[in-house]
Amino acid sequence: MSFDARDFRRALGKFATGVTVITTRGSDGENFGVTASSFNTVSMDPPLILWSIDKGAYSLATYRDAEHFVVNVLANDQIEISNLFASRGVDKFSDIAVEEGIGGSAKVKDAAAQFECRTWKVYEGGDHLIIIGEVVDYAYREEGSALVFHNGRYSVPEPHPMVLPVDEQSALDGRLGKHLLYLMRQALVAYRGDFYPRLGSLGINEKEWRVLTLLADRGDMEAALLAQRVAQPLKDLEDTLTGLQERALVGKDENEHVQLSEEGKSLALRLLAMADDHEKRLLEEMNPDEVRTLKAGLGRLVDRLGTSL
Ligand SMILES: Cc1cc2nc3c(=O)[nH]c(=O)nc-3n(C[C@H](O)[C@H](O)[C@H](O)COP(=O)(O)O)c2cc1C
Repeated sequence: MSFDARDFRRALGKFATGVTVITTRGSDGENFGVTASSFNTVSMDPPLILWSIDKGAYSLATYRDAEHFVVNVLANDQIEISNLFASRGVDKFSDIAVEEGIGGSAKVKDAAAQFECRTWKVYEGGDHLIIIGEVVDYAYREEGSALVFHNGRYSVPEPHPMVLPVDEQSALDGRLGKHLLYLMRQALVAYRGDFYPRLGSLGINEKEWRVLTLLADRGDMEAALLAQRVAQPLKDLEDTLTGLQERALVGKDENEHVQLSEEGKSLALRLLAMADDHEKRLLEEMNPDEVRTLKAGLGRLVDRLGTSL
């Protein structure tokens, strides 16, 4: 049976994972590292873990033959490191802080956890090799949380509301409604729920909407920067772009920058007009000064938090 690759990947993306960077040192002393979400636990005694590497990876032979490797579980604020190690043909080690681990393999500084492994066995796994490692040493950070990958996007792990302790005494005092985070989240969820279904009428999904409107607003840009701006790993963005390319809505220029086609541009303008109209109707009931203050305040908050949009 042959599946549609994009759809199969979307189904697999329902399984939330962490994100790791697996490092090793080649026989000539060169450092290697790849981003991998296929990491998993295997056995407690002996302590075994596994991950799988694409047979198309540049570094395949090095990992297949390596005696040792280190699994670096990335922390929540290490998206850039994940994107760096998921890239090809770049110097992955020139700009990041590492320490030397087992067999010279790099340990990424400030990772949520590190597992130093001896290669235990390598199995065939279709278009991947499955690499099992025996954990020789490990370390982890008490504070902070790990980066999560879910539905093809980087995500933030949050305790499920059902497992949070409830203070029965103060539960009904209305203070939640005064929390900025609560208000922003409620507003965002409600806004999305109201707006996103309208995209379907133009045959566009949420991911495509972000890409098209960002390109219309900011102009042509490299796929890597676009991936960062829409918080999608390059590989998943490539899927979105393929879908848009098939419909002749985007293309690439001679510098490999992603650009809107004429048709893409007019669709993006239509989408932006739709968003403007939606916002206008949503805010109709509010005083214009109140709306201006709200937007200015949120803009200042974004600046203060140092988020580059
Ligand atoms: C979130 C994420 C998870 C990934 N997981 C894997 C994986 O488990 N195995 C793999 O071979 N590649 C995985 N990749 C892709 C590799 O990181 C990417 O192909 C990289 O270029 C391989 O490095 P190399 O070709 O320089 O050896 C993943 C990429 C991302 C963004």
